[in-house]
Amino acid sequence: MAASKLFQPTKIGDLKLEHRVVLAPLTRFRGTAEHVHTDLGVEHYRQRASSPGTLLITEGTFITGKAGGYAHVPSIETDEQLAAWKKVTDAVHEKKSFIFAQLWALGRTADPKVLESEGFELVGPSDIPAAGKSTPRPLTTEEVKEYVQFYAKAADNAVHRAGFDGIELHSANGYLLNQFLHETVNNRTDEYGGSIENRVRFVLEVLEASVKAVGASKVGIRFSPWEFFNDIRINDPIPLYTHLVTRIREQFPDLAYIHVTEPRVSGDTPRDPKGESNDFIRAIWSPRPLISAGGYGRDLAIEWADTKGDIIAFGRHFIANPDLPRRLKENIPLNAYDRSTFYSPLSPKGYIDYPFADESKL
Ligand SMILES: Cc1cc2nc3c(=O)[nH]c(=O)nc-3n(C[C@H](O)[C@H](O)[C@H](O)COP(=O)(O)O)c2cc1C
Repeated sequence: MAASKLFQPTKIGDLKLEHRVVLAPLTRFRGTAEHVHTDLGVEHYRQRASSPGTLLITEGTFITGKAGGYAHVPSIETDEQLAAWKKVTDAVHEKKSFIFAQLWALGRTADPKVLESEGFELVGPSDIPAAGKSTPRPLTTEEVKEYVQFYAKAADNAVHRAGFDGIELHSANGYLLNQFLHETVNNRTDEYGGSIENRVRFVLEVLEASVKAVGASKVGIRFSPWEFFNDIRINDPIPLYTHLVTRIREQFPDLAYIHVTEPRVSGDTPRDPKGESNDFIRAIWSPRPLISAGGYGRDLAIEWADTKGDIIAFGRHFIANPDLPRRLKENIPLNAYDRSTFYSPLSPKGYIDYPFADESKL
């Protein structure tokens, strides 16, 4: 089994990973009220970097204040926020592992109360709310262009000031970039709405600006074509994502990676994929690096790494197993995760206290 591709070296951008087990982006609400990470974050990521050559992707991280709207999520804008992240990246690099920052803007899913308390307003591509949520104000064309620059600045901050190895654009799970892509959320009449060509424009401009800021080999992007979470589901994502991934291949062939979530989960809840598949994306993007996330255990990860060539991101198992790459390689049983501590603001419990398999060997 140890001969599986899952446990062989591979490359992402210029980085040599020692295996294909990646930490998925995981929001944990352990930042301060000022959106600064704490030493809990340093310890959390240090632990998960314990197998040398592991790629970690951070929790969603706000590109700027007005792109936020959840309490206790870290941002990557002020000197204080960047200094806190630098401690995290230093700890990861000390373990000879790598870390990308997931760049996040919430758009219509933000909590209006949190936004208001911080002096911001609820915005989105259009005045279409998610089910049961408040109605956002549509961003003006000029504001969309301003957001492109917020992403570029955040990428620059991440790589050139906070020491990250790269950034991942969060264009999945119904957040701002994803909202522009889907026709059910975007009914704009300017150059960012209407046709598929127009709906992908924001994402492509953000990619271009980010690549210009830090280089293609340091930029990845995450999509969830089949997702229901945040009321983002569309009937047929294939034409949209075929066009988008083809454009990305043409314009940014050296992008670090594309990251997809699989239709066997919605958010982190299992569902029947009913024949839905991201293989159409693999067919376009191959042989470039593709990270796949969603519902993986050891056997399925080995199977998909070997048969599809995927790099596998783990969410919940990596929450509960700081030494997950080693446990998978040596087939050591996994700790069970405790869902009740996933989102406990500023709490060490369930964040830095899951045990390693064998403390004495670390
Ligand atoms: C507590 C928690 C927080 C999450 N936060 C994020 C996030 O910030 N960004 C993101 O793209 N996905 C997020 N996800 C989704 C995960 O990255 C992953 O796709 C999902 O958990 C399925 O993988 P798993 O079955 O290995 O857990 C989160 C999932 C969980 C459980």
